[in-house]
Amino acid sequence: MSHKHPAILRHWLLACSLLLPLMSHAAPAATVSTEARGRHHVEPSPLVIGHRGASGYVPEHTLASYALAVLQGADYIEPDLVMTKDGQLIARHDNELGLTTDVAQRPEFADRRRTQTVDGVTLTGWFSEDFTLAEIKSLRAIERIPTIRPGNARLDGAFEVPTLQEIIDLVKSLQISQQRVIGLYPETKHPTHFQQLGLAMERPLVRILARNGYASRWSPVYIQSFEVENLKTLSRLTSLRLVQLLWTDGQPYDQQVLGTGLTYAQMSTPAGLKAIARYAAGIGPEKSQIIPRDAAGNLTSPTRLVPDAHAAGLKVHPYTFRAENSFLPTDLRSSSDPQARGDTETEIRAFLDAGIDGLFIDQPDIAVKVREARQ
Ligand code: G3P
Ligand code: CA
Repeated sequence: MSHKHPAILRHWLLACSLLLPLMSHAAPAATVSTEARGRHHVEPSPLVIGHRGASGYVPEHTLASYALAVLQGADYIEPDLVMTKDGQLIARHDNELGLTTDVAQRPEFADRRRTQTVDGVTLTGWFSEDFTLAEIKSLRAIERIPTIRPGNARLDGAFEVPTLQEIIDLVKSLQISQQRVIGLYPETKHPTHFQQLGLAMERPLVRILARNGYASRWSPVYIQSFEVENLKTLSRLTSLRLVQLLWTDGQPYDQQVLGTGLTYAQMSTPAGLKAIARYAAGIGPEKSQIIPRDAAGNLTSPTRLVPDAHAAGLKVHPYTFRAENSFLPTDLRSSSDPQARGDTETEIRAFLDAGIDGLFIDQPDIAVKVREARQ
């Protein structure tokens, strides 16, 4: 941890004191060798990606959430990234800030509330591109789904919105204390929207990663996007591995803007996957693209997506596994209580049997335990 960042240190200590009871995974003692940091690091399989950190336990995209994911044994942590008015990369799932910060309670920002179209959808709220980093830093994170995760909501107001640099500093610090490689899996959110505002994300992202030593295909980084053209741009700017996110229907927003007609369904065919393999190392499909659910909400049989992707040379990291009944297949729910946990372990095992290479999960400790039990 850098001594140049006392605010981060304070933040981290606060996170540790709040999170100690939740740390269920003891990291194995090992040395982070020079080789492990670079070219010869062998990634665990399946890769456990802490989705928005350990967002099943702590408000998403906070240093506390990322730290907990690592302490639970996640191999990678996943920051979604948006831009500030002054061109800084910060971790938020959306550029609209009202769902995951206390901005609505801040009278000094009341006049920033406005309506605009983002990726073709009309939204009213407070937008990251209207705030400087200093203003963002005065906000505090809140829980996105307090009715499902009331325990997380108890931590509303405890944590700042982190910058990408602060997340990298945290990872570098935890690599020392945990004695293992910890990867970064950033997602560019709304890249066409930010490009249209003169706040293109790709070069700042590549610059900040390179400045921190992440620049080769062996670096422990995957950059993901639901859009296509910005991944192609990134493939020309960096050798870091890229992941094309997929969705169950519709088109990537940049392809809508360009009028190409390219759909996610086309991208998920063998020919579409071969085209993705020209610029990306993997795909991140919505998990129902791998094992659809039937009319009753139960898992059915796997599709061809995993073998077709593997045939194209692509890794497959589906999203998003969540332990609460609200998100589980019907027959894996423990009760009708939407907050209670069901049998995520069985769901994960079905996807591992289908051949996935990794998974995004809100409760990384569960995936780590399932992986350990299979080894
Ligand atoms: O990036 C994988 C997954 O996180 C994509 O969905 O909406 O949670 O960013 P979202
Ligand atoms: Ca994401």
